[in-house]
Amino acid sequence: MKALILSGGKGTRLRPLTYTGAKQLVPVANKPILWYGIESIVAAGITDIGIIISPETGEEVKTKTGSGEAFGARITYICQEQPAGLAHAVKIARSFLGDSPFVMYLGDNLIQDELRHFIDRFKAQQMDALILLRAVENPTAFGVAEINDRGQVLRLVEKPKHPPSNLALVGLYFFSHQIHSAIERIQPSARGELEITDAIQALIQSGQSVEAEQIRGWWLDTGKKDDLLEANRIVLDTCLTISIQGEVDARSQVIGRVEIGSGSQVRNCTIRGPVVIGKNCHLENCFIGPYSSIADEVTLIDTDLEHSVILQGAKIEGIHQRIVDSVVGQRAHLKAAPQRPKALRFMIGDDCQIEVV
Ligand code: TTP
Repeated sequence: MKALILSGGKGTRLRPLTYTGAKQLVPVANKPILWYGIESIVAAGITDIGIIISPETGEEVKTKTGSGEAFGARITYICQEQPAGLAHAVKIARSFLGDSPFVMYLGDNLIQDELRHFIDRFKAQQMDALILLRAVENPTAFGVAEINDRGQVLRLVEKPKHPPSNLALVGLYFFSHQIHSAIERIQPSARGELEITDAIQALIQSGQSVEAEQIRGWWLDTGKKDDLLEANRIVLDTCLTISIQGEVDARSQVIGRVEIGSGSQVRNCTIRGPVVIGKNCHLENCFIGPYSSIADEVTLIDTDLEHSVILQGAKIEGIHQRIVDSVVGQRAHLKAAPQRPKALRFMIGDDCQIEVV
């Protein structure tokens, strides 16, 4: 069995971060989202992995992720010139996939369930497609499945106005080689994309076996800022251990599950976990509250923050009002005047969101 991870696309909903980088490399608990998918695939025993990349962000994905050796896998990168749809990505990966059955994983999704159980079922029952579902409150925002009481899929609809169920399609699919001929039979949708939901629908129509199973653990699609913060909260809650490698001075208090990377210095700070702090950071006179992830080389001075994600090389100084629910991009610099500011001075990139609350 092979795996295909989709790490192309435009990432418009995560701008401005995605102007300069791939959305799949945005970190959750200081690890790129994409890497969780790779680790989960390798843990299920699949080591032959194709990754779809875009011309804009592909080099960065390749450089950071490498040949796969670090994960115990062999990675083949496949460039998709245009984000022409999930089924289009499968189409251009045909020579990599051959006639092998494969797992398709959306590179901006995080899925807690282990894959092995699904792979075993997919193989044992010789399915042509196994899709995973999760009950959601707002099915109109997702691909939605109608299933019968034996778990067989009757119909799939993309972002329906009148959803046939509340079961959304999770970004993880298992396919036999039959998906390729189904993709040959479909046309681009109204939004101009070759939709994987249409290809699966084509499998159903030609009588092939398409089954569904509901996942039990969490599933997070990190496409938007609040989803990213939620993913960060859940991963810190479930996966973080205690590990202090940097230097913490005697005036600082570290409470609960906190990781501090090597070369980082913490002076006169209170850090209340779960919090992860990367390498070579400098923190002075700060309160860092729960559910915060601070990437490598970040400087925080006289700053209060919680439930936030701070990316590599960012610098925040003198902001004593608590920073909450925030994502601060790489190398961004936030600074307040020593006294109560009389004016605010900004240099803000396109599509940024600033709320002074
Ligand atoms: P989406 O989140 O549906 O699309 P997007 O990345 O273009 O994001 P946005 O809606 O914010 O503009 O894509 C799901 C995953 O699949 C994501 O990791 C990107 C990837 N993808 C491809 O690799 N090729 C494609 O043609 C498309 C549409 C998505």
